[in-house]
Amino acid sequence: METIKIQGGIPLKGTVTIGGAKNSALPILAAAMLTEEPVVIENVPNVADCKTLITIMRDLNVAIDYIDEHTVRIDSGHMQNVCVDSEGVSKMRASYYLLGVLLGRFHEACVAFPGGCNFGVRPIDIHLKGFRALGAQMDVGAMIELHADHLKGRNIFLDFPSVGATINIMLAAVYAEGTTIIENAAKEPHIVDTANFLSSMGADVKGAGTATIRIRGVKKLHGTTYAIIPDQIEAGTYMVAAAATRGDVTVTNVISRHMDSVCAKLAEAGVGVEELDEDAIRIIGTKDMRPTRIKTMPYPGFPTDMQPQTMVLLSMVRGTSMINDTIFDRFRHVEQLTKMGANINVEGQIAIIEGVDHLEGCTVEATDLRAGAAMVIAGLAAQGETTVTNIKYIERGYESMVAKLQALGADIWKDTGTGSLKVIKGMAN
Ligand code: EPU
Repeated sequence: METIKIQGGIPLKGTVTIGGAKNSALPILAAAMLTEEPVVIENVPNVADCKTLITIMRDLNVAIDYIDEHTVRIDSGHMQNVCVDSEGVSKMRASYYLLGVLLGRFHEACVAFPGGCNFGVRPIDIHLKGFRALGAQMDVGAMIELHADHLKGRNIFLDFPSVGATINIMLAAVYAEGTTIIENAAKEPHIVDTANFLSSMGADVKGAGTATIRIRGVKKLHGTTYAIIPDQIEAGTYMVAAAATRGDVTVTNVISRHMDSVCAKLAEAGVGVEELDEDAIRIIGTKDMRPTRIKTMPYPGFPTDMQPQTMVLLSMVRGTSMINDTIFDRFRHVEQLTKMGANINVEGQIAIIEGVDHLEGCTVEATDLRAGAAMVIAGLAAQGETTVTNIKYIERGYESMVAKLQALGADIWKDTGTGSLKVIKGMAN
């Protein structure tokens, strides 16, 4: 079994470059199947979730070639199948985007119920309500089967500004007759990125990034070349790692505006935050931090995807901090942090964190993607050695995390479980 091992206690120092956003890449890769013409997508992160989606798309007879490590060419001209029950679908939540794409292009979809990260109940009722409003009939069991004689634009009010449902309805509506208006839409940067990608293919999408998105159906989409935005959660993860190790790190290739909520909370906790440029932020850690209250909210609020990592930071700040995750019931990492000496109590969706002096290295499990990143941060900050198991979760969404942290001076390595302990620096994933 592969693990990540960390000898903690070294302040991170230096510059780290952020890659393309996983949660943009997934819908954009899928959306490339909306046109018969070739599409080139740049800045695709080399992470397991993207590779899984590409494998599923190839099963649909879509030709996908890597031009370089982060650039793919997608040709869906010979795409045939509208039924997807490959193993990959149950591995990843974002396979739900196949529903919107297949319904939009072929008026027919049959996709196994999407899997995904290991936390809480994750229904897709809002997606299905949207498809139904556009005219789809459905049969939902282990497989989700959708069919529409024709799709017609409607006003669709989302019960919650769901990221996945907002994007999925946009995907299904690009060819629908008339105008679809999504009210109470999610505003995350990846919604805007996906809308920009669709527009670059000739779709008529207005208002992405606000609560009201208008999609006027078009007859045809064409090929395009498009670059994915930087990953704000990857950026936030390195920012928090810098603060937790009392280091001094500059994250580059970020869109600073996307980092506002994370910067605001780090600054509130006493961490030095300097916006160097529109695309670079410097984090200067300090021992002198203040306890802080955080409530996760849809964008532009504090992201749930930064909750576990930030909890690690606050667990080492004297005094009482509080995190209320209003989006997901996502606290399985608390048990792991407790093993390292953290003092955290969870009541419903609220975690009360009594800061301790330091964390102690031990063996902990990555219980999901962001919880896995949190365990790595805890290991970097802790005294002694930490082993993080179940690292397949981390590899779903972080490219070259070990190598990037090594470049920041961390004593971290991937143990491949084959007897060799430290792999050569810079070669680990
Ligand atoms: N919800 C429903 N019904 C639905 C859809 C959502 O009740 O049909 C609820 C969810 O249960 C949750 C809330 O609405 O309480 C928000 O869920 P949302 O649909 O916004 O999340 P998602 O689309 O399933 C995406 C990201 C997650 C990220 C959330 C929130 C992708 C592939 N996943 O999930 O990313 O946490 O938005 O920002 O984009 C991650 O990257 O680690 C990750 C889990």
